[in-house]
Order: sequence, then C-alpha cells, then structure tokens
Amino acid sequence: MTPTEILQDLMSPAGRADPFPLYAAAHRLGPLLPVTDDIFLVVGYAAVNEVLRNPVFEIPAEPSSQPSLELMQRSILRANPPDHGRMRSLLSQVFTPRRVAGLQPAIEAAVDELLNGLAAEVDFMDRFAFQLPVTVICELLGVPTDDRHRFRPLASDLTAALELTDASDAAADAAARELGEYFAYLIQDPPPDGLVAALVAARQRLSDEELLANLILLLVAGFETTTDLLGNGLAILLRQPDLPTNAAFVEEVLRYDSPVQVTTRVARERSEIVGTPIPAASNLVLLLGAANRDPERFPDPDRFDPLRPGNKPLSFGAGAHICLGNSLARLEATVAFDRLRPFTITPNGEPTRRDRLVLRGYQTLPIRLSGGR
Ligand code: HEM
Repeated sequence: MTPTEILQDLMSPAGRADPFPLYAAAHRLGPLLPVTDDIFLVVGYAAVNEVLRNPVFEIPAEPSSQPSLELMQRSILRANPPDHGRMRSLLSQVFTPRRVAGLQPAIEAAVDELLNGLAAEVDFMDRFAFQLPVTVICELLGVPTDDRHRFRPLASDLTAALELTDASDAAADAAARELGEYFAYLIQDPPPDGLVAALVAARQRLSDEELLANLILLLVAGFETTTDLLGNGLAILLRQPDLPTNAAFVEEVLRYDSPVQVTTRVARERSEIVGTPIPAASNLVLLLGAANRDPERFPDPDRFDPLRPGNKPLSFGAGAHICLGNSLARLEATVAFDRLRPFTITPNGEPTRRDRLVLRGYQTLPIRLSGGR
C-alpha cells in the first residue's frame, strides 16, 4: 500500500471503523510517510513525539468562514504563540491539580449515584459514559447540571467539524451558534465558584470571543473524549472480564483505543523529523493512534496488556498543547472502572461505533448488568 492509499482508506467508512490494520501497514513503510511534496503522515511514536514537542511545528491556523471552525480556532486548542501561552497560563491558573484532586469525592459520589440508578439492561454510553464526565465538567465549570442533556448532541455535532473530511457542516455551525448563545447568556451572571466565574473575572486577559471559545472548548473537551474513553474501556472489559480495572488498565485503554486518533501541525519553517527533511509550510497529519501501536515502542502492539512496562501512550498529546484535562480524565476513568468491578457486565446486543476517525468511540454499547450492589 502507498501512503496515499493509507490516508484515503483511513477516511473511508471501513477505515474509520477499524483503522488499526492501516496503521500496521503504515508502520511497515516507515515512521514518516510523504503523501505529496507538502503533506506527510507521521506514524512512528518517536516521530509523533518529536513533532508535538518541537515549536517549529505549529497549529494550522488558517482563518475559517465556517462558524464551528472559527470558534475552535479562537480557543487555546488551535492557538499559536504568543496567544497560546497567554491562554494556557490563564487556564492553568484556574484548572489547577489541586482543584482536580479536590473533585475526587464528587466524582465518587457521581459514579455511585449513576451505578445505583442503572437498570439491568442499559445503553452504557447514554446512561453512564456520557453522564459521568458531563456531570463532572458542568460542576467544575459551574454550568447548571440541569442543562447537561442538551450537550451530548451539540458536542457531537460540533466536533464533527474536526474530522479530516467534510469541510462544511451545517449541523456543526448550528451547534457552535447554540453553544455560543448559551455561554453568552451564562457569563452575564455566572454561578460562583466555577471556572466560568473564574474566567469571567480574568476577562481583561481574554477577548470576548476567546472567552466564549475557551468555555465551549472546556465543556466539549471535558466530556466527549472522556465519554469515549469510558466506552472504549468497557468494550474491552466485555471481551476480557477478568482484567484488573486499575490505573494501569486505564492507561492501556488510552494506548490501545485512544479517544483522539489524529491531530495536525504545519511546519513554520524548513525542518527535519527523525532525520527526514520537511519543507516549510508542510502539513503534518499526526496519527496518535498509530504511534500508540508502533511495534518499535510497544512490542506486540495489538495485544491489550495493562502490564506493559513504561506504558506512555501519546493519547493526550505532548509538548505545549498537552491535554490540560489529562489528570481529570484519568481520575474519572480510574474511579469509574474501580466502582464497576463488583458488577457482572455482559453484552446485550451489538454495539455501534461513532462513524469518526479523529474522535474514536461508541455511539451505543448495550449491556446487561447484575450483582455489585
Ligand atoms: C488538548 C486528548 C480530556 C481539555 C488535548 C489534546 C489531546 C487531548 C490529544 C492535544 C491536541 C493537540 O496537541 O493538537 C484528550 C483525551 C481526553 C481528554 C484523550 C480524555 C480521555 C480532556 C478533559 C479536558 C480537556 C477532561 C477538560 C476538562 C483540553 C484542553 C486542551 C486539550 C483545554 C488544549 C490544550 C492546549 O492546546 O494547550 N486533549 N483530552 N481534555 N484538552 Fe484534552
């Protein structure tokens, strides 16, 4: 297979459903694959890591007339220096490790309440994997939890714009508008103690558009990917119920079935990656999910093994943009899988995948649940 065929297949429905054989084919070709003179697929662990940590490789920041993309471009996720540093220091001041650690009792209480309320036959995605992180992020932000049912379809529509295909998407734009209106209303009188109030207080360091974009990003990034992590982990447990459900299990779920499979960068100037010259302005498609299955870094990469020594997947990225919420996501998943352990959980029908390459997760995961309580 050629790099072009690999990229095309990754964007096809079959490739989105199961990209892993394509990643294996990519690794056989090498760590860095030219698709054209100025488009490269970056697949090796060392190569992806190098790109993420080298400031020469920036976020592609072309202005967009599409409201959903424009919204994301204004957030920290798509910012370059010096704006990125300003937003990152501001967000890190309010999103502290202490604040995250302080959430543990609330996360445990939320997990127990959700588990107590589960019927014997449920869709795990709808009744648990979505509910836990949306409840936690609403609490952290100070967004009324009564509004959370609105957010799953809106977030899903919005993040569809992150896929490599489909440049224009009316549903994504409608979601961007609705979330924008929601937060514009909320910031007029934000509930005290949450991040919304903290960021409104720091307003002189953010433009009005940046404030809205970052609040929406925090809400959406705060639950969509974590929902996928919980679902991807549960699907593995359904196949291998005897696995220990501890922090090492969560780390291996992140490696094996990463909720974020792809990100992108552009070369600000002529440079090199793993010894290969990269022309200025080249576009780099970083396959995080492939890096996590690099046989040079993870022996027998297609085997799920929580006991892997030195398991450091790139699922949260690396370098300047490393995920701000990584410790929160890990904490939620660790508490959730720990509390799920006493239950007997079996499949109750065929799960369905979300038809996505970039954000990988399940749409539905029907289960039968007994014991535990
Ligand atoms: C950035 C993944 C959960 C907030 C990122 C990036 C990745 C990622 C890969 C970097 C993208 C890049 O470099 O291009 C994940 C995964 C999660 C998760 C897999 C769950 C399993 C969260 C949570 C929050 C969050 C819970 C917030 C509460 C952010 C923010 C950024 C980010 C604000 C932008 C950081 C920056 O650009 O400096 N995430 N994330 N994420 N994530 Fe997460």
